Amino acid sequence: MSTLPGGTWTLGDLTVTRFGYGAMQLAGPQVMGPPADRQGALAVLREAVDLGITHIDTSDAYGPRVTNELIRQALHPYPESLHIVTKVGATRDPQGGWPPARRPEELRRQVHDNLTSLGLDVLDLVNLRLGDAAGPQPGSLAEAFETLVELQQEGLIRHLGVSNATEEQVAQARSIAPIVCVQNMYNLAHRHDDELIDRLAADGIAYVPFFPLGGFTPLQSSALSAVAARLEATPMSVALAWLLQRSPNILLIPGTSSTAHLHENITGAGLTLSDEDLKKLDDIGLGATATN
Ligand SMILES: NC(=O)c1ccc[n+]([C@@H]2O[C@H](COP(=O)([O-])OP(=O)(O)OC[C@H]3O[C@@H](n4cnc5c(N)ncnc54)[C@H](OP(=O)(O)O)[C@@H]3O)[C@@H](O)[C@H]2O)c1
Repeated sequence: MSTLPGGTWTLGDLTVTRFGYGAMQLAGPQVMGPPADRQGALAVLREAVDLGITHIDTSDAYGPRVTNELIRQALHPYPESLHIVTKVGATRDPQGGWPPARRPEELRRQVHDNLTSLGLDVLDLVNLRLGDAAGPQPGSLAEAFETLVELQQEGLIRHLGVSNATEEQVAQARSIAPIVCVQNMYNLAHRHDDELIDRLAADGIAYVPFFPLGGFTPLQSSALSAVAARLEATPMSVALAWLLQRSPNILLIPGTSSTAHLHENITGAGLTLSDEDLKKLDDIGLGATATN
C-alpha cells in the first residue's frame, strides 16, 4: 500500500506508485553535462525513494548518461519495489540536439548502454521515443518497435511502451505487441491527448504525461493561480492534483532538483479539487488561457 497521493498502478506485472519522479532535469543546462549540484541531485533521488516513490523515469540520452549514472550512484543496489523506466530512440549531438536513433543497431546499442549505466541485467520498461523535439511525427514504427520486441524476447526488457507518439503509432505498436504505457506531452494547457487517455484507460494502459508542470517553461495561467490561491496551495500543486484526478491511468513523473519542491509536489498532488475547481481548470486547456 502506498501513502503517496493517487495510490498505485500496475504496469504489466509491476506495481508502481502513481506519483513518480522524472529525472531528466537533474542533468546540466539543456540536459547536457553534469548537474550544478551533484550532491543535491543524489539527495533528491534518495529522498524520492525514501518517501515511497517506486517509479523513476530516465533515459541514457539525459546528459547523456548523466542521470542514469546519478540514479545508479544514489540508489544501486535498487530496492525490489523500485522500477526504473527508460527510453530509447534518440541520441544527443554536441549542440544539445536530440537526433533520432531508431535503426535496429542503434536501438540495440541504447538498450545495452542503459543496462550498463543503470547497472541492471533487465530493464523493467523501455519506451520507444518517436517524433522529434517539435512533437510526434507520422510514420511507421514497425522496424524499430519489432527490434525492441526482439530484445524483450531475449530477456533484456520486461515491458514496452511508446513515447512522443501519434494515435496511429500507438495503435500500430499495439498491433505488434502489448504495451503498458504511452508517455506523451500533456498538462493543463496541452490537452491534445484527451481522447487517447480515455481509450487507454478503458484498456488498462497507463498514460504518463511528460512536462506535467510545463517542462522548461512552467505553466502560467490566471485561472490556475486563482484556484491555487483559494486552496492556499501553489499552482504546481494544483496542476499535479488535476492530473491525478483527470484519469486513474495517469502516472505522474514531475521533475525537480529540489527536495523542498519534491515534498511540496507530493503534498500538493493530494489536494481534492471540487467540481467547480475542475471546471475552471478544464477551461484552461479548452480556452488555451495558460502558456507553457
Ligand atoms: N518522452 C519524452 O520525450 C520526454 C520529454 C521530456 C521529459 N520527459 C520526462 O518527463 C519528466 C518530467 O518533465 P520535466 O522535468 O522536464 O518537466 P516538468 O516536470 O513539467 O517540470 C519540471 C520543472 O518544474 C520545476 N518545478 C518542479 N516542482 C516545482 C515546484 N513545486 N515549484 C516550482 N517549480 C517546480 C522544476 O524546477 P526545480 O528543479 O527548481 O524544482 C523543473 O524546472 C522528465 O524528467 C523526463 O523523465 C520525457
